Amino acid sequence: MEQSNLSSREPVLEVRDLRKDFTIHVIGRHVEALNGVNLTVGAGEHVALIGQSGAGKSTLLRCVWRSYRPTSGHVWLRQRDGAQIDLATADDREVADIRRQQIGYVGQFLRAEPRRSVLEVVARAGIRRGAHEDDATDQAVTALREVAIGEDLWGTSPVVLSGGEQQRINLAAGTLYPPHLLLLDEPVASLDAGNRQRVLERIGHLARDGVAVLSVFHDLEAVRQLATRVVALCDGNVVADGAPNEVLELVAS
Ligand SMILES: Nc1ncnc2c1ncn2[C@@H]1O[C@H](COP(=O)(O)OP(=O)(O)OP(=O)(O)O)[C@@H](O)[C@H]1O
Ligand SMILES: [Mg+2]
Repeated sequence: MEQSNLSSREPVLEVRDLRKDFTIHVIGRHVEALNGVNLTVGAGEHVALIGQSGAGKSTLLRCVWRSYRPTSGHVWLRQRDGAQIDLATADDREVADIRRQQIGYVGQFLRAEPRRSVLEVVARAGIRRGAHEDDATDQAVTALREVAIGEDLWGTSPVVLSGGEQQRINLAAGTLYPPHLLLLDEPVASLDAGNRQRVLERIGHLARDGVAVLSVFHDLEAVRQLATRVVALCDGNVVADGAPNEVLELVAS
């Protein structure tokens, strides 16, 4: 990736004073899930979010992906062409275009159209990000091999497959023809050791290729293996942001 011009040194993602409140009227519950979060992710950086259950990790990823609309604050994305957009306030259509072309989101569950085959689901993710059909199919084949989805499954619908298989297909799709910014929410949660390692390696290559990655991993071994920086959240606040070994040591003490 081009690193020489000035703009490429600016962060790809810059989250400023981000707040997200939830009010559940029927039970009279009000939650301040994010309380003014600041963080940045640069090209080729892998920033891992850590923190206890309920700390706000998934909420933060969803505010960036904009499946949640932030209550206030900014989610600046420096797009591939260098233009900045605030995803916190951009209109839905603009967000949909940017998501399709520049952002990957891999959660624990695959949402695939029932009538598409495994190979199509993965290749289409690349086509949405600008790959030509043939190229996308070639890359989909490579990606599926990398995450150990056997050729006998490529023609079937992913909806009939196991949770772990779906998760690997999801990861293959989310990383094909790599997005500019990749959001990962526990992408190896239901994988056995061998498949987990394959998926982690694929994620590691992406950051090295210049993709900006913001992740949540349940197991800290994955964080140690992949993160270039760790941000710790507690009750919706950033309580530490720094080198992985320093932050992990801090939270362990
Ligand atoms: N859609 C929602 N409606 C109401 N409250 C929500 C919603 N999503 C999240 N919350 C609340 O916001 C807080 C943060 O939740 P979040 O899912 O971000 O935590 P997390 O750090 O991802 O936790 P975990 O490690 O368990 O996945 C929690 O108190 C949660 O109950
Ligand atoms: Mg979560």
